[in-house]
Amino acid sequence: MNAVTFLSPVTEEIKLVEERMRAQADESHPDLRAALEHLLAAGGKRIRPTLGLLVGNMLGAPLDKLVTLGAAVELLHTATLVHDDLIDGALLRRGMATLNARWSPPATVLTGDYLFARAAILAAETDHLPLMKLFSETLAIIVNGELTQMFTSRGLISRDNYYKRIYAKTASLFEMTSRAAAMVSPSDDATIESMRDFGYQIGVAFQIVDDILDFTGDQASVGKPLGSDLHNGLATLPSIYYAEANPNDPDILSLPNGGWTNNDNMTRLVDNIRASDATKKAMLEAEQHIDRALVILDPMEPCAERDALENLAKYIVNRKV
Ligand code: IPE
Ligand code: IPE
Ligand code: MG
Ligand code: MG
Repeated sequence: MNAVTFLSPVTEEIKLVEERMRAQADESHPDLRAALEHLLAAGGKRIRPTLGLLVGNMLGAPLDKLVTLGAAVELLHTATLVHDDLIDGALLRRGMATLNARWSPPATVLTGDYLFARAAILAAETDHLPLMKLFSETLAIIVNGELTQMFTSRGLISRDNYYKRIYAKTASLFEMTSRAAAMVSPSDDATIESMRDFGYQIGVAFQIVDDILDFTGDQASVGKPLGSDLHNGLATLPSIYYAEANPNDPDILSLPNGGWTNNDNMTRLVDNIRASDATKKAMLEAEQHIDRALVILDPMEPCAERDALENLAKYIVNRKV
């Protein structure tokens, strides 16, 4: 990650965010503290706080508010991962054992809840009421999205459903981060709206690429189980493209009727999708969102942060992790 150019203007500030996150474990039960330390030590790309710091610095927001916002957002993200891995039964994250691999489901749920609560405290510490409101609304969107995904019949292939899902689970948090960083700066409403859209566009691209990596990624670099979306009954953009090109593939046809529960068939389908041009088509779609994000940056004053935001946007479609 050191070679990643978008990080350089905020390397030191990200350390402040991490310190702030670590401090949230201070007064907790020793087992909980150990779990939180395990989670925080596992790292992660820290892409959301980086986004917030770059947007906020570019627009002249106070650093203390950006660090607090960054810690709040990254803890919220961490909480959603703790719950997501329990829901998906995933045993690996960031190359390390997940909490649910080592702990009971109740302890895992409560740890996620604790992280949500600490994230909310941090959001309140920005002393910015509209930001707190936006933060809670975003959490509601994410949870509602996860629940909708759970109760919508698995294996269903619809673009509309896919886009709603990735907005709720991922793009909403990128959107919120970028918008909130602009909100705590002296920017006008039009700039805040541009930054909201910037976050939205890169957030959509980010999840599309995550879904592509589930097919094409290298397990050791990605650090989480791959090929798992279809095995969990989740049809993502590569599956949608593959289904459009191969509407009579028996494995595709079996999906809405529970065919996704058949391990051998899903392994075959994952291989067929990998070998097709479906992931390439999905990547082109992600790139269109990045192009839209770059257009939004165009009118911004040239500065190191603007360059870094450009690099961050491009990194999202070039990443292997
Ligand atoms: C993973 O997010 C979950 C998704 C929204 C796809 P990241 O890829 O940002 O995870 P870390 O924080 O770097 O591990
Ligand atoms: C997770 O999306 C998004 C949230 C945690 C809300 P994914 O299920 O695609 O994330 P990974 O692939 O497990 O990281
Ligand atoms: Mg998951
Ligand atoms: Mg995924």
